[in-house]
Amino acid sequence: MANNMAIKHFLQFNDLNRDELEHVFARASWIKNQFKTYQQYWPLQDRTLVMIFEKASTRTRLSFEAGMHQLGGSAIYLNTRDSQLGRGEPVEDAAQVISRMSDIVMIRTFEQEIIERFSANSRVPVINGLTNEYHPCQILADIFTFIEHRGSIQGKTVAWIGDSNNVCNTWLQAAEVLDFNVHVSTPPGYEVEPERANLYGNDHYEEFADPMEAAKDADLVTTDVWTSMGFEAENEERMRDFADWQVDSDMMRVAAKNALFMHCLPAHRGEEVAADVIDGTQSVVWDEAENRLHVQKALMEYLLLGKIK
Ligand code: CP
Ligand code: NVA
Repeated sequence: MANNMAIKHFLQFNDLNRDELEHVFARASWIKNQFKTYQQYWPLQDRTLVMIFEKASTRTRLSFEAGMHQLGGSAIYLNTRDSQLGRGEPVEDAAQVISRMSDIVMIRTFEQEIIERFSANSRVPVINGLTNEYHPCQILADIFTFIEHRGSIQGKTVAWIGDSNNVCNTWLQAAEVLDFNVHVSTPPGYEVEPERANLYGNDHYEEFADPMEAAKDADLVTTDVWTSMGFEAENEERMRDFADWQVDSDMMRVAAKNALFMHCLPAHRGEEVAADVIDGTQSVVWDEAENRLHVQKALMEYLLLGKIK
C-alpha cells in the first residue's frame, strides 16, 4: 500500500507545478545514469504497479513495465478484453478493488472522465497513460529530451503541426506551466479547443492557418498521427483534410537552424511526417521514446516516495 502522504495523481500535465517538474527531470537524469551504468536502484522493492489498457500500446506498456521492474517492483497488465473491465463493472468499483491490491495504477483509456472517476475512488496514485484529451507522460519525456539536447525550454518556441489532439493539448498545458510558446497549425475544423485542453489562458500559444508560418523559427517542430486511437471512423476524411499538414524538409528549413524534430510515435511516414525528416539528423524520436522509461521511473518514484533527494 501507499505510504501516508496525501495521494498525488498525474492525470494532466498541470497536476505537477514547475518545481515538481524540475525535480522529476533532475531525478530522471540521475535514474537514467544509474540505468546506463548498470547500477541497481530499487526504491520500489515490493511495490506493485497495475497497468490498465483500454487502447493499444507498445511504448507506454514497455516503459512502465520495464521501469517498475528496474525500480525493484513488479507490474501487472490488465486490458479490457480479458478482465471484467470490458464487461461493464463500474469504474468506481474497479478502482476500489484494484487500489486495495496495488501501490500505483497507470491507465490508458478513452474519456478523461473515466480516469477522473477512477482516481476519485483510488487509494493509490493514478497516472494517465493517455486519454482522448491528454498524454502527460509523453510530454514529460519530450521536454526532458529537449532539455537534454538544448537546455531549458523556457522562452523557446514549439511548432505543433497537425491535429489538436491529446498530445497537442498536453503541449499547451506544459507551455503554461513551464513558460514557453506553442505555435499551432491545424486544418480548418480541427482547431484547439481551449476548454478541452483545460488551459488557464491563451497567452502561451498562437494559431496559424499556414503550417509554414507556425514552423518559422521554431526551436522544436513536432507532430502526431492524423487519426488518433478511437477516431478511426474519421480516417478517410482526415487523410484528405490533413494532406497539407505534413512536416517535410521544406518545413524544417524555415524552422530555427538547430531545430529538433519530435514525434510521440507510432509514425506514418508519408502522412504527417516525411521519411527524410523523421529519419534525418534533426530528429530525436528514438531518444524521445527511450526517455519515456526514465521520466516515468522518476514520476513513479516521486508519486510514491515524494522528494527523496
Ligand atoms: N507514444 C506512445 O504512447 O506510444 P504507444 O502508443 O506505443 O504506447
Ligand atoms: N494521438 C495518438 C497518440 C498515440 C501515442 C493517439 O491518441 O492515438
